Amino acid sequence: MIFKKANRLSGEITVPGDKSITHRAVMLGALATGKTEIHNFLYGADCLSTIDCFEKLGVQVESSSEPEGIVTIHGVGLHGLQAPSASLDVGNSGTTIRLMSGILAGQEFDSMLTGDGSIQRRPMLRIIEPLSMMGADISSTLDNNCAPLQIKGKLLNGIHYISPYNSAQVKSAVLFAGLYADSRTSVTEKNVSRNHSELMIDYFGGEIYMEDTTITVCPEPTLIGQRVVVPGDLSSAAYFIAAALIVPNSEILIKNVGINPTRDGMLRVVKEMGGHIEILNEQFDGEPFADILVKSSALHGVTIEGAIVPTLIDELPIISVLAAYADGQTVIRDAAELRVKESDRLEAIVDNLSSMEVDITPTPDGMIINGGKPVKGTVIGSRLDHRIAMSFAIAALGAEGNTEIIGSECVKISYPGFYQDLESLIQN
Ligand code: S3P
Repeated sequence: MIFKKANRLSGEITVPGDKSITHRAVMLGALATGKTEIHNFLYGADCLSTIDCFEKLGVQVESSSEPEGIVTIHGVGLHGLQAPSASLDVGNSGTTIRLMSGILAGQEFDSMLTGDGSIQRRPMLRIIEPLSMMGADISSTLDNNCAPLQIKGKLLNGIHYISPYNSAQVKSAVLFAGLYADSRTSVTEKNVSRNHSELMIDYFGGEIYMEDTTITVCPEPTLIGQRVVVPGDLSSAAYFIAAALIVPNSEILIKNVGINPTRDGMLRVVKEMGGHIEILNEQFDGEPFADILVKSSALHGVTIEGAIVPTLIDELPIISVLAAYADGQTVIRDAAELRVKESDRLEAIVDNLSSMEVDITPTPDGMIINGGKPVKGTVIGSRLDHRIAMSFAIAALGAEGNTEIIGSECVKISYPGFYQDLESLIQN
């Protein structure tokens, strides 16, 4: 797709449901007894992969037509999943493979998990290790610590895991396995990662506690099906927030966006950069959400490091685009995890911003961007990574000349209607 400089953005928009929360609603809905209705379900390829896996495990799922976005899961209870007759394909979804591994480790049957080329390159030792400590029999069939993963169902034991990663996928895999353990399971993180699993286990009636950075889950809960309303995905809203900040004379309102404090680091960074952003009409329904008003702003560089990093990890590609348009230096540290996402995002950001003539230098765990100089349109490789494609579609809106994004259709992973929604805000 080809993008060009935009004159102004204005209007009101609602972004699709949160990806992380949609996955967890399907998973807990399947393990609960009774019906779970998921409103504002995200019809992205990743969440459809999660549904597909549970259908292969014997769970019945009904979907209304897309605009209403209601998916109904007929829960089978904690011990009601059935052995799949084929391997489970998670597609591109890291959340699906890692969280499902935790669930499948404690079943009374064996299973195999696999996914696309990107998934088969992503590190799985981070879940193999703690799950094995719980007594799980989980192995990488190619012996390279990547998918395909073979899981032989086992009785699990509760552990206290001190996680070396600030990863919600690792934490959630262990907590989900903990539902099947013989005693309580705890996970301690250095810096808190997104807590949607914890909130959702509690919402479905499980027993789960948080003390400092340690989460403890009790085994064998009776989970009851619920009505879940998924808030808009802040990670999707992030692209429009950035677009309105960098395109002059813009003002947009994004409705019903999740603002969970374990996810809202970008909002804090944007304010620190001098961005005009207002959080309006705050509400709570299982998760906090609000409307976000954004106006074009003169931005300046900042340093991003430490505890805030896990709360904006998926927004770093679009934050680096903001940094290119901000005066002065932006330094990003403690973000080595970017190298093991759907693509090596650190390399993708550096290569693509460099080709747009932005002054950017990679470091082992981040990057240094000297922004505020003209940005040039060019050809961008998305690396079939949805967040890279969307970030550079936004970068194009402030750049001189045309920007062509190769593989732009990969946005279907988290935001199938992204380009149409962006188009609806652009006033030329
Ligand atoms: C996610 C956790 C994060 C994030 C991913 C979604 C989740 O990954 O990058 O897009 O839903 O738990 P890590 O846990 O690997 O940081």
